[in-house]
Amino acid sequence: MADRPRVFVSRRIPDEGLDLILAAADATIWPDEMPPPRGELLRSIEGMDGVLALLTDRVDAEFLDRAGPQLKVVSNYAVGFDNIVVPEATARGVAVGNTPGALTETTADLAFALLMAAGRRVAEGDRYVRAGKWKTWGPLLLLGTDVWGATIGIVGFGRIGQAMARRARGFNMTVLFHDVMDPPADVVAEIGAQRVPLDELFSRSDFVSLHTNLTAETRHLVNEERLRSMKPTAVLVNSSRGPVVDQRALYRALSEGWILGAGLDVTDPEPMPVDEPLLTLENCLVVPHIASASRATRAKMAVMAAENLLAGVRGERLPTPVNPEVYEGR
Ligand code: DGY
Repeated sequence: MADRPRVFVSRRIPDEGLDLILAAADATIWPDEMPPPRGELLRSIEGMDGVLALLTDRVDAEFLDRAGPQLKVVSNYAVGFDNIVVPEATARGVAVGNTPGALTETTADLAFALLMAAGRRVAEGDRYVRAGKWKTWGPLLLLGTDVWGATIGIVGFGRIGQAMARRARGFNMTVLFHDVMDPPADVVAEIGAQRVPLDELFSRSDFVSLHTNLTAETRHLVNEERLRSMKPTAVLVNSSRGPVVDQRALYRALSEGWILGAGLDVTDPEPMPVDEPLLTLENCLVVPHIASASRATRAKMAVMAAENLLAGVRGERLPTPVNPEVYEGR
C-alpha cells in the first residue's frame, strides 16, 4: 500500500516486536547477524519515515541527513542511547525513543551474577577443573571475597542501580551509592542506601558496580587513581558501558593485585578483541554484553521499540521518548 510508512529495522528483533512493525509498515529488515556496515546502513535509511536502530548503529548528523527530512523517528532497541547524537535528532525534529524499564531486573540479575562469579572466582574455578588442575581440596585454593554482609558501592542509582541495591540487601550488604541526580527519597530509605562521595564509595566498597550512562563526564570515571583507592580484596563490576572504565588502568589493577577481580559485561571496544591483554588474566571475567539477554526481556524490548517506531511514523508522541523537547511548540 502506497500510504504505509516506510521503516528500516537494522537487525532482526524478536517476533513480538517485528510482527507489530510488519503489520503496520513497509519494513526493510537487515537480515544478517552482523550489523549493516556504515555504507549499507546509510544507503538503507534513505527516504525512510522511521528507523529502528541498535546500539551498534551510530546515529549522527550524517545519518540523519542521509535519511532525509521526512524521517520522523529513531527508535533505539536499548535503554542506553549513547550511540545517538540526540541534539542532532532534536534539531531536525526527529523523535528518539528507548526502552526504559523493560530490562531493569534482567540487567541487575546479570550484574549480580558477575559480582558473585568474580568475587567467588567461579569462571576461574571452572577453567581450573577443565584444565585438569584439580588435585585435592585445598585450604588456600581459589580464595575469594565474601558477598554476604559485604559493602557494595553503586555508581549510578537509577532504575538498574536500585534493582542491584535490592539484590544486595537480600545478601545483607551495606549499600553505598553515588549519583549526580537525586533519587527519590522514599526509594533510598526503603533500600536503606547511603549516599556518599565517589572517592569514599571506591575506598569503602568490597564490590563496586557501575550503572551510569556513558557521558563526557563518566568516560574513564574508573581510572588509575580510583582503582588504586580500592581494597585489594575488592571486585569491580561493569554492566553500563565499556568506556566508563579505563581498561589499560584496569589491566594494571588486576595484574598487579590492586584489586581482586573484575566482571565485565561491557568493554571498550565491543566486541573485545581476542588479543586484548585483559583476556590473559584469570581474574577478569568477561561476557559479551548480554545483561538484558533473557527471552522475555528481549521480547518486551522489541514491543517497546516497535511501539515507539510506529507512534513516531504516525506523528504521535512516543510512549518513551528520549528527547521530549522535540514536541515543544508543536
Ligand atoms: C541497553 O539497553 O542499553 C543495554 O546495554 C542492551 O540491552
